[in-house]
Amino acid sequence: MKPLFKNKHFITLEDWTNKEIETLLATSKTLKEKFKANEKTPYLDYKTGFLMFFEQSTRTRNSMEAGLAQLGGHANFLDTKTMQISHGETGKDTAVILSSYGHMIACRNCFWQVGNAFINEMAEHATVPVMNLQCDLYHPFQGLADLMTIQEVKKTTKNIKVAIIWAYATSHKKPISVPLTQSLLFPRFGMDVILAHPKGYELPDWVIKKAKQNAKEHGGRFTVSHDMAAAYKDADIVIPKNWGSWASNASDDVIDEVLEANKHWKCTEAILKTAKSDVTYMHALPADRGHEVEDAVIDGKHSVVYQEAENRLHTAKAVMALTMGDK
Ligand code: CP
Repeated sequence: MKPLFKNKHFITLEDWTNKEIETLLATSKTLKEKFKANEKTPYLDYKTGFLMFFEQSTRTRNSMEAGLAQLGGHANFLDTKTMQISHGETGKDTAVILSSYGHMIACRNCFWQVGNAFINEMAEHATVPVMNLQCDLYHPFQGLADLMTIQEVKKTTKNIKVAIIWAYATSHKKPISVPLTQSLLFPRFGMDVILAHPKGYELPDWVIKKAKQNAKEHGGRFTVSHDMAAAYKDADIVIPKNWGSWASNASDDVIDEVLEANKHWKCTEAILKTAKSDVTYMHALPADRGHEVEDAVIDGKHSVVYQEAENRLHTAKAVMALTMGDK
């Protein structure tokens, strides 16, 4: 497989054209078929990638580690608490050194108003592709896997109503990067996207402006609502998920009055019945079961959460195979 996008950074899908994203998706599909057929895919023989994590992960870490091994390479997991970054070493120095040891640097850093800047600092100085494993603003690997899943399940992305809906959760103050990525990406593929949330959980103004512009340029739609019932009504896809009030309140506190006033923003069997009869329920996971969603929904016939999580592997492999190359 030729690294068609050799050394192109994967920090936000906003930097990738629709045509390039379609190539990533086609490659993901091929790699998925080969994986299921137990075919070897040694496209990155002897290549090394570095996975830096400032936060916990199940899907992202393991899809990258397993994915690079399945492509013939090796991924080196780095808990940043054990790196000299924790003593103040810069992103620049880290990126220059790791570039000289291998073929890719990937990083998860979700600290508000820090993470994206840190990953971009590394990208500026790296000589290998830098991949964003989720930051305070973007989660491009999740967005790509979500798009692949929608294509698989719905066969089309055009003119389907996709509701990205805030949901109540108490586990931790989650980044806005998943709904932000979906809001920017899905209208580019012709979807009719509604972003619904209680007051206090706004995404930044520039995101709304850009999502509307993306919709206009690509024949999709993007609207914002505070009406949960309207978001579910006749939806083809619902994506109820918690995110923190970062844009209006940078505090790390998980539970506050605004959160507690919105416990009723939960995906229940009852509200799901107001969507289309073949509605698809999606969630990036991990889900806060019982708070964000009833077990009967996430474990029910409309849910594709495990397919969505599996697609993280195939899309991760596609991005690595097409961007990592010889020195
Ligand atoms: N969806 C997702 O990024 O999962 P992890 O936090 O487990 O990587």
